[in-house]
Amino acid sequence: MGNNTYQAHLFVLQGRYDKAMVHFELDAVVLASGEKTYYFQDDHSHPFHAYSGAQQWLPFPLSAETYIVLQTGQKPTLIWPVRDDFWHAPNPIPEGDWQQHWNIILARKTDKWFSHLPKQTAWLGPQPMTFSTPCDGLKAYVDFDKAVKTPFEIQAIRRASERAVKGHIAAKEAFLAGMSELDIHLAFLQASQQTATQEPYPGIVGINQHAAVLHYEHKDIQQQPNSLTLLIDAGANEHGYASDITRTSVRHNDDFSALVDNMDTMEQKLCNNAMSGVSYQDLHQETLGGIARLLHDHKICSLGVEEQLAKGIPQIFFPHGLGHLLGLQVHDVGGHQIDREGTLNLPNAKAPFLRLTRQLEKDMVITIEPGLYFIPMLLEKMQAEIANHGCDMQKIQHFMPYGGIRIEDNLVIKDDLPENLTREAFAS
Ligand code: GLY
Ligand code: MN
Ligand code: MN
Repeated sequence: MGNNTYQAHLFVLQGRYDKAMVHFELDAVVLASGEKTYYFQDDHSHPFHAYSGAQQWLPFPLSAETYIVLQTGQKPTLIWPVRDDFWHAPNPIPEGDWQQHWNIILARKTDKWFSHLPKQTAWLGPQPMTFSTPCDGLKAYVDFDKAVKTPFEIQAIRRASERAVKGHIAAKEAFLAGMSELDIHLAFLQASQQTATQEPYPGIVGINQHAAVLHYEHKDIQQQPNSLTLLIDAGANEHGYASDITRTSVRHNDDFSALVDNMDTMEQKLCNNAMSGVSYQDLHQETLGGIARLLHDHKICSLGVEEQLAKGIPQIFFPHGLGHLLGLQVHDVGGHQIDREGTLNLPNAKAPFLRLTRQLEKDMVITIEPGLYFIPMLLEKMQAEIANHGCDMQKIQHFMPYGGIRIEDNLVIKDDLPENLTREAFAS
């Protein structure tokens, strides 16, 4: 990644934090990557993910106990941990042009690097140190702006998308070859060049009915030569920035594959309607209407779109939200925030799991991920609670073994058509 893109990224971040320091009358802000945490009564640690507020500043993955000190008018300072530790690999500071934009201090755990910090120093990250000044509102203030990505961040997500798409192509081949969920996941990891702990979230690999479990967490080891459906939701990351991609593949040309095709058409239409000025809540509502239309057209539900919407039928088949902000966190921060002060716009009762309720802005990166699943628990609830639901339960029984469908793309929002990072990566 070019040094100029990184330098411009730092310039934007410094502007945001300078503004925050003026707003809260602060002299300095410390961002902490966090510390390793351990399994209960064990000396093995959980996989480490640096606090995203610190990670945002550097073009390589941050390890634990790394700190960034920001003071207006000064180069940012990086406090780099030096460890006298023969159990683990050494932690040399990465070479590169990025260094010219930083003051770098190598510090041992016992070094008091913080002793010269000014009085009004706020802290962001886990486990605040005693020197810091509590600053309610700082986190919300800086989180709000994180939704709009810099070109450096967009490039990182683009690379993460390209890597994940290589994995998705390999996973589909493994599915068609009749492999197990575990082997499909291994094929994904191999082709996307990552270990399972490096994934931005644990890859979801569901064959047949498992495709109906939204966050299916197991990996079956049985070979599946006659599998019907593969739903794989898996991403990759580029120095912390995530891609988050779902594809649904089928083995046969039948009425379920027709449903997948029409879902794909609907998903692309939704993507093309995502542009600056559009309310994401309206897009979610449009999706509910689209699901109702699919249910009607595929003779799953005889009711018209309006009646289905009034009865909450689409939510039985599509119980989650349309998508979310994407960045250093897969479900990136600030999705419900409508201003820097931290005012929340929480989703309404008809869309309780919607993670993004903001109006879209240019250079936000978001996901669009409609789904349509045959989930026994929700279908039983529908039969018990919704009179005259109009659903053909025989047809639904027929679709049950296929599990469900989700198609998820990652978009950069523009003033007109978005850049679809996922489709671009598949096309190349
Ligand atoms: N992979 C989690 C999600 O799509 O939101
Ligand atoms: Mn997602
Ligand atoms: Mn996903």
